[in-house]
Amino acid sequence: MCGIVAYLGRKAAQPILVEGLKRLEYRGYDSAGIALLNDGSIHVTKTSGRISALEGILDEPHGWDTLGIAHTRWATHGRPNTTNAHPHLDATGKIAVVHNGIIENYATLRTWLQNEGVVFRSETDTEVIANLIGYIYANQADAGLPDDQSAFEWAVQQALRKLHGTFGLAIICGDFPDTLIGAKRGSPLILGVGNTEYILASDAAAIVEHTTQAIYMADNEMVLVGPDGFHTKTIDNVTIAKDLKQIEFSLEQIELDGFEHHMLKEIFEQPESLRMCLGGRIEAHDGKIKLGGIRDYLRELTRARHVIFTACGTAFHAGLVGEFLLEHLARIPVETEYASEFRYRNPIIEDGTIVIAISQSGETADTLAAVEQAKERGAVVLGVVNVVGSTIARATDAGIYLHAGPEIGVASTKAFTAQVAVLSMLAIELGRRRHLGSDDAARHIDELAQIPEKIERILEQSDHIREIAAANIDKENWLFLGRGFNYPVALEGALKLKEISYIHAEGLPAAEMKHGPIALIADGMPAVFVATAGPQYDKMMGNIQEVRARGGRIIVVATEGDEYLEGVADHLITVPQTPELFQPMLTAVPLQLLAYHAAVLRGHDVDKPRNLAKSVTVE
Ligand code: F6R
Repeated sequence: MCGIVAYLGRKAAQPILVEGLKRLEYRGYDSAGIALLNDGSIHVTKTSGRISALEGILDEPHGWDTLGIAHTRWATHGRPNTTNAHPHLDATGKIAVVHNGIIENYATLRTWLQNEGVVFRSETDTEVIANLIGYIYANQADAGLPDDQSAFEWAVQQALRKLHGTFGLAIICGDFPDTLIGAKRGSPLILGVGNTEYILASDAAAIVEHTTQAIYMADNEMVLVGPDGFHTKTIDNVTIAKDLKQIEFSLEQIELDGFEHHMLKEIFEQPESLRMCLGGRIEAHDGKIKLGGIRDYLRELTRARHVIFTACGTAFHAGLVGEFLLEHLARIPVETEYASEFRYRNPIIEDGTIVIAISQSGETADTLAAVEQAKERGAVVLGVVNVVGSTIARATDAGIYLHAGPEIGVASTKAFTAQVAVLSMLAIELGRRRHLGSDDAARHIDELAQIPEKIERILEQSDHIREIAAANIDKENWLFLGRGFNYPVALEGALKLKEISYIHAEGLPAAEMKHGPIALIADGMPAVFVATAGPQYDKMMGNIQEVRARGGRIIVVATEGDEYLEGVADHLITVPQTPELFQPMLTAVPLQLLAYHAAVLRGHDVDKPRNLAKSVTVE
């Protein structure tokens, strides 16, 4: 949801900012802009469209432009046009701001400023921030300025205290050519600290090329960056010391590495990302799994009377698989809740309730709000998060990191399989501690350890899956059907297809079809069945015949060696044999490839699907 990047150092800022924007483009891509500070004035270049459009209108970089801020937008307030693009200048042209987040009281502030004679140009909430800072800055003499603060810093602080809502901000002022100010509440912000340069950004992806040392800002904190260092304080002007942290991933991990798209690269990375995720946790296991991140909460988890998974989108589907796993292996009652619903309900949280938030980015606004809601009600709240140091990772009491590496493609793929792997480990370990016994646990762990190699075999079918997508590419409506552990996979398959190929798809538990959706089946409509070996296999065969009898096109994900389905399916994809409870990590992969190939065949920008952004930091 919008990417911001800012630079202060000795090099020309513009190329560094453009490169940073490209690394953040997955966060939003409907308009982009840059502001450079030079000789006391701020020069803004911005446009609707992608970073490439911005590059097309930028002047040649100057070596003396060593301070600048930049933005790539995912529109919330105001259409995605050039006027609404960031950076926003205040009415005097002295202050420039880039912003990620939403200012909830922007209308009130705007009216107030307009009554004071301030003229607005855009429809955005961000321009209110710029104008509020600019107005306070221009009038600060009346208010009296503290000795230990510059007028710029003071004006920013006063303005921030008036804002309701969320912000990650980078701010510059024409009168302070050596100062960059960042501030955060509810939207991520990281300051990369190099030898003689600083990069402030929404995401470490824009920083890692320059330095791996960073400070992670917390809510209601601001950072003042100057040529001689940085200073962190709260927006209430209390100085705070922050430790430098190591950014954990490398530049190579976020580059395409010969793949056409990040999504395809990430699909193919799954054997490796799962090895990283399972790695030290199941090695030399002796029936036990090491879950160091939740070490202090294992006793509470083992005695839990009720677990609630809360998440959005793909992570919600992983939560559903986790629900079935925890019920099956640990016999703990579990509910999986959309975070966007959970946060506004009146959930029953009692002694023995544990809430587990699942999030790739660790920044999803609804999931974060659900975490806060659960904490307020006294629950132990744990996280299953990919991005180290992210807001949800820090807001939860403890957690298990996915260690899946950076996920750049907007459509989540390797995070899903890693989330399911983490929840599988959690279920096995809690099962062992409750009633499963070490031998059974050891058997499950051995199965889990084989998943990466089995995914490698599935990936070999990518070309075959492409042909299936091509054969059905003209179809506008698809069904995805599964039962048991593969029911959430059917939901996930449908979500993947619709979000990147813009084909309408519905995911359902297969038995629900006859309660309504079967009416949709018409000649040649593709129905994707996840029909692997397991207790409900025979029931699935019945559902397949029902669709076939009505002229549907049968696409099946089956277990290797299934001769019956070879004869029945119009298109067959196979996955290696594995116990039913671990099948989602295998069966999701061909559905990711199906969606990917369908989107490419339709000519869509797979890594930047329309209207979407990678981390949804707005409600
Ligand atoms: C779908 C997708 C989204 C995310 C959802 C939650 O491919 O990526 O549905 O899964 O926005 O995001 P995180 O996991 O970052 O909280």
